[in-house]
Amino acid sequence: MQDSPLLTTTLGSLTLKNPFLLSSAPPTANGEMIRRAFKAGWGGAVIKTITPDDIPIRDVSPRFSAWKGDCNEILGFENIELLSKHSVSYWMDEIKAIKKEYPEHQLIASIMGSTDPISWQNLAEVVQDAGCDAIEMNVSCPHGMPEAGIGAAIGQNPQMVQELTRMVVAVSDVPVYVKLTPNVTDIGHIARSAALGRADGISAINTVGCMIGVDIETFEPRPTVHGRSTYGGYSGPAIKPIGLRMVSEIARTVPLPIMGIGGISRWEDAVEYILLGASAVQVCTAVMWNGYGIVREIKKGLTEYLTRRGYSSPEELRGKTLSRLSSHQALDRFVCIRPVVRNPGACIRCGRCAIACRDGGYSAIQMKKEGIEIDNGSCDGCGLCILVCSTKTLTAELCSHK
Ligand SMILES: Cc1cc2nc3c(=O)[nH]c(=O)nc-3n(C[C@H](O)[C@H](O)[C@H](O)COP(=O)(O)O)c2cc1C
Repeated sequence: MQDSPLLTTTLGSLTLKNPFLLSSAPPTANGEMIRRAFKAGWGGAVIKTITPDDIPIRDVSPRFSAWKGDCNEILGFENIELLSKHSVSYWMDEIKAIKKEYPEHQLIASIMGSTDPISWQNLAEVVQDAGCDAIEMNVSCPHGMPEAGIGAAIGQNPQMVQELTRMVVAVSDVPVYVKLTPNVTDIGHIARSAALGRADGISAINTVGCMIGVDIETFEPRPTVHGRSTYGGYSGPAIKPIGLRMVSEIARTVPLPIMGIGGISRWEDAVEYILLGASAVQVCTAVMWNGYGIVREIKKGLTEYLTRRGYSSPEELRGKTLSRLSSHQALDRFVCIRPVVRNPGACIRCGRCAIACRDGGYSAIQMKKEGIEIDNGSCDGCGLCILVCSTKTLTAELCSHK
């Protein structure tokens, strides 16, 4: 099915049929999978990170673990997986073939060289000669590779990011994106280093360093590889707030196109990333859990949203929320919200609002026989009661003065 023209957008100098790309991960592990993804409707794909043939990639098993909700839905996902197991020549052939079959889709090669920058330059030259549309430098993998001085070990060092970016850009004719790690104190600082190295754009974020859990019967950390584990990378819906913060910080710091990544599974998530400065978005975990087909629902949702709001491209939404981010000091102290019982019929008398207000707030709510009673004199306007109400009985009303 053809994409709606409304979804066409730009990513720096590239034109995208739609702003949805697969990120460098298992869904782009081989050429056949990328072809299936393009057929399913993804606008582009970032190939699972390619390394020089002399860096051995040998994965452990198992290498995933998950934090799930009550309905078995994924909230957070940990992996300790390494990079592409395919040779450089395999990817050269596949890039050439896929670009011939899918000239309108963006095929981006993720690369990671060794500690020697020349190996990054060699890889960059090979993938661009094969015909990829852009290069993404993986300086952000948080597990395995940092022990060897690469991956996030580079992405956490501003000087190394600047110098390595400069060297890769020097040999590249296609746009070079630098994929950043959120496991830093100030991502804006690292993005600035990439910009000083003349990067064409930024991808953010890679996974968040984590330890997903412990089996409390065996005391084994998860995912358990024959009784042991290691720190891994956290992804999926739980990291979206971290990704949104990082992308907005980058957008406020450098004037470069950004591919937003982290916890995207619905069209609304993508809109949030775009409003905070992303030009396009990448998805991994949601596809690993639900398949390539989710892109149809995501594209339909975005098309309907753009139509309803009167926009003719996702581009028109880009960065629209950024001007509303300010320091805490600059926030208005003279307005506040109050909870109001707008929908008394919906109340199931669970009492959560009253308990939360009593033990986590200001004891301003009581559960009476007649229903919820709010003491506006005690209410401090924190909004906790509205958040814990599962039936939307309580809504917020804006007051002008505290
Ligand atoms: C199993 C797995 C393998 C991954 N492999 C890579 C990789 O080879 N290169 C890379 O840049 N990012 C890799 N990532 C990170 C993803 O591309 C993405 O940045 C991250 O998962 C956040 O997006 P998500 O929340 O949509 O999954 C991997 C992620 C997962 C879950």
